[in-house]
Amino acid sequence: MEQAQVSVLDTGGQYCHLIARRVRELGIYANVFASDTPAETFRRNRALIISGGPASVYTPGSPLLDPATFALGVPILGICYGQQLFAHQLDGHVEPGTKGEYGLAYVDLQPSPLFEGVTGRQQVWMSHRDQVGRLPTGFHLLGSTGTCPIAAIGDDQRKLYGMQFHPEVVQTLGGQRMLENFLFGIAGCERDWEPAHQLPVVEEQIRAIAGKRSVFFFASGGVDSTVAYTVCLRALGPERVHATYVDTGLMREGETEFVRGVFESLAAGSFNVADAQEDFLSKLATARDPEAKRLIIGEEFVHVQQRILESGHYLDGEWILGQGTIYPDTIESGGTKNADLIKTHHNRVAGIQKLMEENRLVEPLREFYKDEVRQLGRALGLPDALLDRHPFPGPGLAIRCLCHSEHAALEKTHDGWLMPVRTVGVQGDSRTYRAVLVIDAVDHELATEIANRDHRVNRVVACLGAHGPVGELQVFPSFLTKSRLDTLRHADAIVRRMSDESGFDATIWQFPVVLIPAGTPDRPDSIVLRPIDSVDGMTATATAIPDALSAQLTATLLALPGIAAVFLDLTHKPPGTIEWE
Ligand code: XMP
Repeated sequence: MEQAQVSVLDTGGQYCHLIARRVRELGIYANVFASDTPAETFRRNRALIISGGPASVYTPGSPLLDPATFALGVPILGICYGQQLFAHQLDGHVEPGTKGEYGLAYVDLQPSPLFEGVTGRQQVWMSHRDQVGRLPTGFHLLGSTGTCPIAAIGDDQRKLYGMQFHPEVVQTLGGQRMLENFLFGIAGCERDWEPAHQLPVVEEQIRAIAGKRSVFFFASGGVDSTVAYTVCLRALGPERVHATYVDTGLMREGETEFVRGVFESLAAGSFNVADAQEDFLSKLATARDPEAKRLIIGEEFVHVQQRILESGHYLDGEWILGQGTIYPDTIESGGTKNADLIKTHHNRVAGIQKLMEENRLVEPLREFYKDEVRQLGRALGLPDALLDRHPFPGPGLAIRCLCHSEHAALEKTHDGWLMPVRTVGVQGDSRTYRAVLVIDAVDHELATEIANRDHRVNRVVACLGAHGPVGELQVFPSFLTKSRLDTLRHADAIVRRMSDESGFDATIWQFPVVLIPAGTPDRPDSIVLRPIDSVDGMTATATAIPDALSAQLTATLLALPGIAAVFLDLTHKPPGTIEWE
């Protein structure tokens, strides 16, 4: 890829990727570097942006810039912690805050090239404890809020600017305008970035890496690996690109046929399905704990992948491995949970490890963000049905089919019924594994209040319908059987179809459907609906289902054999995770 006009210096957290994405949305190529990268690296840049981060400049070991960076003559915008670095590393002063400021704030902005079109009172998003107490020499004050007297600063001579608030988040209403002012007005950047225009460059890179060799993919049916495969196909032709899809038996209804359909329409003959259902299901037969399930699935992937690599002779010198790694996965601080997990699995496969060590790896999407991968996919002619899919976890339905070790009754509490089915949650930085509380009303506020107050639970659900009184449900000893998985698969397919037909599916980020072993002797399980909205899966808002769809889903699911009740999950993340396990 060409020299980036803009580099974002990462001071920790996820902010740096959001900033780089925003810059790219403006049509300017941006990349991300560790904050202490030597200044020389940036001599040819048009602009630098220092990201916000969770550290305090006072804590030993906190991220700093190479001091020479400030003297490069390249315009710099410091955001949040980035503004504090100007004060700390130049000759200003940062004051440790006593109480933090988090959320919406109103800032009064002075006229400045940075704030053209957005002067006066502006709504912004703040998230900080420390703040600048004294300006460095050459800087003047550009904005204040009630609690943060030095909320924006600038040195027009050196073109160094700082903001305590976050222009990259949507809550800062003039944020994109501020970034435009800095990039186009102050730094003189030019539009040079259109992901789809990069396709010829990416194809050339693939040909250069592959040489005379062919490329092999483990396809998942997800957006990234399918787009990576397709661009390799374009670069090398169908004879030299092969993909195998592992059918674990933990997939959604119709998934294998869907993936086969997509791949076969791309290049007949270079795709095949490895049926490993028996391998996975037999290993999972006695697993109940979520982590045990994940471990077994991870290890089984290792075995199956190694078997495929060896039997297909993909380890000989004729083949290299293709992967759908995307930009945030390549940078340590930006890796998502997803990516981490996929990485561990892949790294543990000896065969893949060998290919990596020998540099026999092609990752055509490693410069792109998810939205850009979708744009590439569209330019490559991939169907929207594939590109706009909701995320689906690698371990599949196994972590949506809950198991329990003993027979138990529900317990009446002040707020509702305590159901001893345990689910995973996230509170602060730690993982919890707690019971579920059932309440009568679809009341998300009440649910949040209860989850914060009652430490026996990390999840609150409302009962949408049942064949009898909720208090009479029992929790049954249960395993991950083929028949329970089939019930879940069927219920999930019904929910997906109705949610899609009603238009609801397109308005939310993900819609897990979960099977729990709570019911009656002749109807031993129940279904939980978990529609959520999110931006990146790190946090999520539990959403309500429109009344008509909710009634339709409840009636249809209650008619399924073996289903006693239908619940709606009311828990935001945190304190609940998106998945139940
Ligand atoms: P949680 O449940 O942690 O999920 O709130 C956040 C996002 O990650 C997905 N997820 C996974 N994806 N392997 C995956 O590939 C996993 O083990 C896994 N666990 C959760 C989840 O579906 C959601 O989109």
